[in-house]
Amino acid sequence: LVEKSLRPQYLSQYIGQNQVKEKMSIYIQAAKNRNEALDHVLLFGPPGLGKTTMAYVIANELGVGLKQTSGPAIEKTGDLVAILNELEAGDVLFIDEIHRLPRVAEELLYSAMEDFYVDIMVGTGPNAHAVHFPLPPFTLVGATTRAGMLSAPLRDRFGIILHMEYYEVADLQEIVLRSSEIFNVEMLEDGANEIARRSRGTPRIANRLLKRVRDYAEVKSNGVVNKTVADKALIMLEVDNAGLDRIDQKLLKTMIELYQGGPVGLTTLAVNIAEDAETVEDMYEPYLIQQGFLKRTKTGRVATPKAYEHFGYPFEMELI
Ligand code: ADE
Repeated sequence: LVEKSLRPQYLSQYIGQNQVKEKMSIYIQAAKNRNEALDHVLLFGPPGLGKTTMAYVIANELGVGLKQTSGPAIEKTGDLVAILNELEAGDVLFIDEIHRLPRVAEELLYSAMEDFYVDIMVGTGPNAHAVHFPLPPFTLVGATTRAGMLSAPLRDRFGIILHMEYYEVADLQEIVLRSSEIFNVEMLEDGANEIARRSRGTPRIANRLLKRVRDYAEVKSNGVVNKTVADKALIMLEVDNAGLDRIDQKLLKTMIELYQGGPVGLTTLAVNIAEDAETVEDMYEPYLIQQGFLKRTKTGRVATPKAYEHFGYPFEMELI
């Protein structure tokens, strides 16, 4: 039995992110030809775009093992040493949310990345001494949502830096069709298009909406997903016609109704919609900015005329 997994395993199955795929396929091929570990890879981009999936695809394409951890999971240097100790030659070490790595762990990574060793301090006081600990050559794949939050010394040690972009509707539509096949959902093209169009450019969201639309289609209809069924299910999920979810809508409406469209500070905005500032900044704003609903200015966040128009407010409101 060949179970088709929801996450693509190889570059050939990975839909979208063509720039990233094209570059990675060359670097992977070159590293394999030279029989060397691939250079360290840093993946930037908003949540849900497939950074973790890409790390696994890289390991599969290289034919090596993968060890996974995350910045917040590593509390002390020992946690990092333990996972480095498990690596075999050529393996991928995937560190998600690498911008949240504690400073001491980050500093340990410098020599690990550059020359494949760590010096670990043992003992205390006059007995303290460094123990030199060699590592096999490995590939660090780091993922982060925040371009600005990574320190320069860490960023500079990645030979390959790739930006993941929001997906085109056509690519998301293909992903929805692929996932529908895996979930055994009867999906029509206009149904897949409707879900794709309203998924904030994000496969994770497309796949989540797909599951709820399927529930709706099975209970309220005959299980077949067309545009009408998808639309009704998405309205119920509070995903509007532009694909903005409840929090996007609340964020923009708060700016317009309470702050005359801004400028309003990030923390003020976050408090008003009961989300933390980091979530607003990493998850909500990038898509609203990309779609032209919101702007970041020196004095704060501003709702654009497009945002006013979307919610049916006259733009003159800003002048009141
Ligand atoms: N499922 C989620 N993301 C995907 C992608 N980029 N390609 C194929 N299937 C996916």
